[in-house]
Amino acid sequence: MRFAFLMTAAILTGSAFTATTAMAEETGESLYMDACATCHGAAGMGEGPMAEFMSVNVPNLQELAQNNDGVFPMLEVIQIIDGRTGVRGHGSEMPVWGRQFKGEMLDTAGIYGSEIYARGKVLSLAYYLESIQNE
Ligand code: HEC
Repeated sequence: MRFAFLMTAAILTGSAFTATTAMAEETGESLYMDACATCHGAAGMGEGPMAEFMSVNVPNLQELAQNNDGVFPMLEVIQIIDGRTGVRGHGSEMPVWGRQFKGEMLDTAGIYGSEIYARGKVLSLAYYLESIQNE
């Protein structure tokens, strides 16, 4: 009885976790298509229509793990997307998404609420990018 309960709890917890992760990826994907695909391309390979107007190469986002000894550099990716942390700051052609996402909700959600909203979006995007890495 106790074992069955524990198993059920484990299964429920497991599937809730998977569902949350899947949801984050799905949100990340639609966000990506809205905000990033113009430059990085729908597949993330740097093939977006804006890429030819950039003065630097638009990187292939499927190769982030490959370029980091096979490990997806989650923290760095979060910081690069957010753009407010100074990682790849000046001279970068990437929009500062953290500021932009926060600005979208500042009036409605206030300083703290909009910060949470911005971080959620950045994290969903990072999860999505992790899901499209080349083996
Ligand atoms: C206006 C074009 C443009 C848009 C839109 C854009 N990027 Fe970028 N991105 C770039 C360029 C150019 C670089 C190369 C380095 C630089 O300029 O910062 C880059 C670099 C990156 C990197 C670092 C890649 C590496 O190899 O180190 C990541 C991660 C990234 N972008 C994610 C995103 C995400 C996620 C979005 C959408 C929220 C996005 N980008 C939207 C142009 C863009």
